[in-house]
Amino acid sequence: MLEQGQLESWDRESFFHPNTHLGQFVRKETPQVVMTGGEGVYVYDNKGSKLLDGFAGLYCVNIGYGRQPVIDAISKQAQELAYYHAYFGHGTEASITLSKMVLERAPKHMSKIYFGVSGSDANDTNIKLTWHYQNILGRHQKKKIISRWRAYHGSGLMSGSLTGLDAFHKKFDLPLPMVKHTVAPYYYRRPVELENLSEEEFSAYCAKELEALIAREGADSIAAMVAEPALGTGGLVPPPKGYWEAITPILNQNDILLIADEVVTGFGRLGSMFASPYYGLKPDFMTIAKGVTSAYLPLSGSLISGKVYDVLMQGTDENGPIGHGWTYSAHPICAAAGVANLKLIDEMNIVANTAEIGPYLLKELQSALGDHPNVGEIRGEGLLLAVELVEEKAGRKFLDSSKKIGPTLATKIRENGVIVRAMAQGDILGIAPPLCLNREEANIIVKAIHQAVTNYF
Ligand SMILES: Cc1ncc(COP(=O)(O)O)c(C=O)c1O
Repeated sequence: MLEQGQLESWDRESFFHPNTHLGQFVRKETPQVVMTGGEGVYVYDNKGSKLLDGFAGLYCVNIGYGRQPVIDAISKQAQELAYYHAYFGHGTEASITLSKMVLERAPKHMSKIYFGVSGSDANDTNIKLTWHYQNILGRHQKKKIISRWRAYHGSGLMSGSLTGLDAFHKKFDLPLPMVKHTVAPYYYRRPVELENLSEEEFSAYCAKELEALIAREGADSIAAMVAEPALGTGGLVPPPKGYWEAITPILNQNDILLIADEVVTGFGRLGSMFASPYYGLKPDFMTIAKGVTSAYLPLSGSLISGKVYDVLMQGTDENGPIGHGWTYSAHPICAAAGVANLKLIDEMNIVANTAEIGPYLLKELQSALGDHPNVGEIRGEGLLLAVELVEEKAGRKFLDSSKKIGPTLATKIRENGVIVRAMAQGDILGIAPPLCLNREEANIIVKAIHQAVTNYF
C-alpha cells in the first residue's frame, strides 16, 4: 500500500506529461489527477470523484469503459501468445481477422491495411507510402503535401508538420518545408472581410485558395492532400456546405492523392462507420486509430486503396520487400482487442445509437444555450459537438483567448460532474462522449454545461 501522497510526489518528480505546462506542473501550480477506474460513460479518480466523460478520454473510448468482452479477449491473447511480429508474412488469428473486419467496414475501394501503433505513426506511414508510390511511378518531383490550418494529424516530425496548430510547430522547427497549409474550412471563424459570404460561397473561397496554392507551388510538385473529413482538435467543425464537392475535383484534376485522416471519425463518431463515404469522399489512403480498439490498447492503421496497392506491389517486384515496418505492427494483443471491440460496436448498435443520440444532444444544447449572448455557435455531427463561446454574439466578437475562459469553464463543468474539453484554439467546449451515450446521460451533459455557462457570464 502506498503512503498518502506518494503517487502525487512521484508524479511531479518523474512524469513528463504530454501537452502539459511543464514548469507549472513541476512547481505544483497546476492540478494533477490520478484516474483509477471507469465504467460505461463514467470515470473515477483517486479522490472519489465520479465524472461523466463527455470527451471519451481523447475522443477514443467509443464503446465506453470496462467492457468485459474486450478485457477477456486481451487476457486470452496474452495467455496464448503475447507477441509475435508481422514481418515476412507472419500473422496471428487476431491480426488477420482484424484486417478482414476493418476492410469489410471500409469503403469498397480500400484494399489492404497496414497496422501501426498511433495516429501519428499511421499518418507518417501514409506520407512515406505516398512518396514511395510517386517514386515508383517515376514522378520524382511530386513530393509536397497539402494540409490545412487548424488540422490535427499528430505530433511526430511529419505528422506534427501536417498539423496546422501553432503550438505543435513553435520552437520545434516545424512544419517541415515540404508541407504547405491552406485555409481552414471553418465558416464561423471566417475573416471579417468575408462576413457576407454564405456557407457555399465560403466553400468556393476555400476551393479558390487551394487552387491558388497549387498554382503557386506547381501541381507537378504536389503528391497529396491530407485532411480530416470534419475538423477535430482545431475546433470540432463539420465542413461548410459544398466544401468537399468543391475540393475533390481540384485534387482529381491535378492528380493529387487524398489521405483522409479518420483517426477521430472512424468507427462511428459521426453516426456512420466512416466519415469519407458520409461526405462522398473516395480517398487513396485512410488513417485510423482510436476507435479501432476504443483505445483499450494502442493500435492504428493505414488503409490503402487498390489503385495505390497495385503500384506498391509493382515496386516490390522491381526493388524487393518494402522497407517499412514497426516491431509492434499488428501486435497480437492489440489486434485481439480490436476484433472484440468491432464485434461489440456491432452488438451494441453503437453507430445507429450515435446517429440518434448525436442530433438529440445537439438539439438539447441548442435549446438550452442557443440564445445565450456569449454562445456564438453550437455545432456538430453525430457525437462530435462544440459550444463556441464569444464576447458578443452579434458581429462574432471573439473572446480574448489569453483570458482562458474556455479552460475556466471546462473546469467549472468538471466541478458539475462532467468532463468536456477546452479545445486548443479558441474558447471552444468540445463534447465527444462514448458512443454508447443514452438520453439520460446526454441530459446530464447539457445540464452541467448550461449551469456553468449561465453562472459564469
Ligand atoms: C485526426 C487525428 N489524426 C491523428 C491523431 C494522432 O493520433 P495519436 O495521438 O494516436 O498519435 C489524432 C489525435 O488526436 C487526431 O485527432
